[in-house]
Amino acid sequence: MPVNFLGALLAEGTSVIPNYDVLKIAIPAVVGVGTLKYYFSGARNTWERKLHGKVILITGGTSGMGAAVASDLAQRGAQLVLLVREMTPWVIEYIEDLRESSKNALIYAEACDLQSMYSVRKFATKWLDNQPPRRLDMVVCCAGLALPPGHVRDATPLEGVEPQYAVNYLAHYHLLTLLTPALKIQPPDRDVRIVLTTCVASVMGDFDMSDVQFNKRPYPSMRPWRVFGAAKLQLALFGYELQRRINAYERKDNNQSPNLRVIIVDPGLMRTPSFQRFASLGSLWGLLLYLILWPIWWLLLKAPISGAQSTLHATMSPEFEEKKEVYYVSECTVRPPPSLPIFKDVEAQKKLFDVTEEIIKEAEQRGAVARKRAEVEKKVDEVRRQQKERKEKEEKEKSENKDDEKKEEKKEDEKKD
Ligand SMILES: NC(=O)c1ccc[n+]([C@@H]2O[C@H](COP(=O)([O-])OP(=O)(O)OC[C@H]3O[C@@H](n4cnc5c(N)ncnc54)[C@H](OP(=O)(O)O)[C@@H]3O)[C@@H](O)[C@H]2O)c1
Repeated sequence: MPVNFLGALLAEGTSVIPNYDVLKIAIPAVVGVGTLKYYFSGARNTWERKLHGKVILITGGTSGMGAAVASDLAQRGAQLVLLVREMTPWVIEYIEDLRESSKNALIYAEACDLQSMYSVRKFATKWLDNQPPRRLDMVVCCAGLALPPGHVRDATPLEGVEPQYAVNYLAHYHLLTLLTPALKIQPPDRDVRIVLTTCVASVMGDFDMSDVQFNKRPYPSMRPWRVFGAAKLQLALFGYELQRRINAYERKDNNQSPNLRVIIVDPGLMRTPSFQRFASLGSLWGLLLYLILWPIWWLLLKAPISGAQSTLHATMSPEFEEKKEVYYVSECTVRPPPSLPIFKDVEAQKKLFDVTEEIIKEAEQRGAVARKRAEVEKKVDEVRRQQKERKEKEEKEKSENKDDEKKEEKKEDEKKD
């Protein structure tokens, strides 16, 4: 049959192919779209690693790329601790689903709101307080916040930090520096990794070390990626200084620095809830436009699982075992960091580390004062409420007594009559 058909094709030309006019357009179009889709889906992680018994902390594991990373690590048997904004019934159900789908019971969630330095400290203190000290193989930082254009400068509750700066940088700095003692005491043969997710927007960040939160400069409401990008840039720079500080620490048992490396990952652009919020400008009309343009997003942007590949590569590839240094990864390949001079400026990175420490201290102090004030106000309100209740009770008793007296008087009057 195929031989007959090929013979007819040679003898009579393309007219023997049914619907040839349609096929001659459709086939190149499908191949073209398929090629573009394959290209824009990016590189795939080809490494395998058994993660049974390994303990991994992950931020942002409930959505988008982080959820894809968490699901993959869970399927490989890792003991996962997801740091979530708050423990809600939804989170509990999410953890149960993840346990079931990965056939891994060792998946847990802990409250750690990255918009609150207090919450980060509470989680880290709980972790450090554990006796004997807990095993910790990896901290994978996937959480992020990208606000759409048109937002006025906002601030986190109580601590008053710019939210994109808080979630993308400050909270991760706080978490990792607080956990540093736990990272340092891991046995010297344990390959410990810190994975930080950055973004191509980091080169567009408007970074000024003397005004990192746009307190003095006008807030770029219509270009929020300048704040987001600056936060991601600072996260990457922090990675370099953290690596240096950990390398400078000598373990008492073997006179060597801890066996740790920081891996900075640029996952590429992805169709995740955060991108959808950003592209739709957080409005209903924007959402409609986003849905109309969906084929473009589908074609040009990575699905969360494709975006997760470089992060998974960072958690699994043995190439990072070689040196205790910072690696910059994109498309599952180690590359040089962006060509910004600050990536080579060790002094600026040190200064940024110290400036950030100070900012966190101030934010925590503001938070503590605000919490204390709220506590006192609550107590004062309670006392006022009790006083009011007492007064009302007394007045009621008084009026009841008066009524009784009147009734008595009336009875006596009736008797007299
Ligand atoms: N999407 C992109 O195109 C793109 C490009 C380059 C880099 N990235 C980076 O890749 C990472 C993942 O991005 P994504 O697009 O997958 O993000 P996403 O879907 O928006 O998910 C963000 C995650 O961060 C968590 N998070 C946000 N605020 C938090 C808070 N205050 N406390 C605790 N958790 C909080 C979210 O938790 P809830 O579920 O509770 O909100 C969620 O799990 C981010 O670091 C992002 O900056 C993304």
